[in-house]
Amino acid sequence: MTRNALMIPTALRGRTAGRFATLLALACALPVAWVDSREIPASAMLPAYRQECAGCHMAYPPGMLPASSWSRMMQGLDQHYGTDASLDAAMVRQISTWLAAHAGTYKRVREAPPQDRITQSAWFERKHRDVEPGVWKRAAVGSRANCMACHTRADQGDFDDDRVRIPK
Ligand code: HEC
Ligand code: HEC
Repeated sequence: MTRNALMIPTALRGRTAGRFATLLALACALPVAWVDSREIPASAMLPAYRQECAGCHMAYPPGMLPASSWSRMMQGLDQHYGTDASLDAAMVRQISTWLAAHAGTYKRVREAPPQDRITQSAWFERKHRDVEPGVWKRAAVGSRANCMACHTRADQGDFDDDRVRIPK
């Protein structure tokens, strides 16, 4: 918001600035929903989350799943998508609390996707409908859950389509 406010050219300040600011506020209202979800760089994440939940895959942005999904997942870490990702109770509590506070709450993310997978969310399907089925199976990709294979700056919270590079 601050960044956008600073972008109002000086000439527009004053009489028209009020109306301009209203338009900007409206324009910003939608992307803000995404800002909490995907634009969290790993460096801004809870250290325990970054440490314990990014060993086998990237630290997924908490806003990409609803709190109910995170809660279920954190209660079943011993059977985590075919692996054992167990943590001690104190660690589970700490990470769960942080995930609950940063979970996605807006419309697209409110409903728990099948298997509590980001990659099974309706929005994920929609955003990736142009990706050929065979692409997901390429050795350099391996899985839909391997965001970093194509979103080269995913760990910076950057999923912008300008930065997508599909590996051969
Ligand atoms: C021992 C390895 C391991 C650890 C540690 C681990 N995970 Fe996973 N996780 C996996 C595997 C394997 C998958 C399935 C990946 C796939 O389908 O390609 C997965 C999938 C996921 C998915 C679903 C991805 C999708 O398809 O949308 C989420 C969300 C997730 N993990 C969160 C976590 C959280 C939170 C933690 C920390 C508490 C964690 N993981 C720790 C191995 C791990
Ligand atoms: C095989 C490569 C690939 C993988 C793996 C992949 N994506 Fe994507 N993603 C894409 C492509 C291609 C687009 C569409 C870009 C476009 O519209 O031009 C996209 C679009 C997106 C968008 C919308 C971007 C925008 O600006 O509208 C989001 C958000 C996103 N992906 C998140 C993820 C997440 C989260 C993961 C991992 C759980 C993931 N993607 C895994 C290729 C991939």
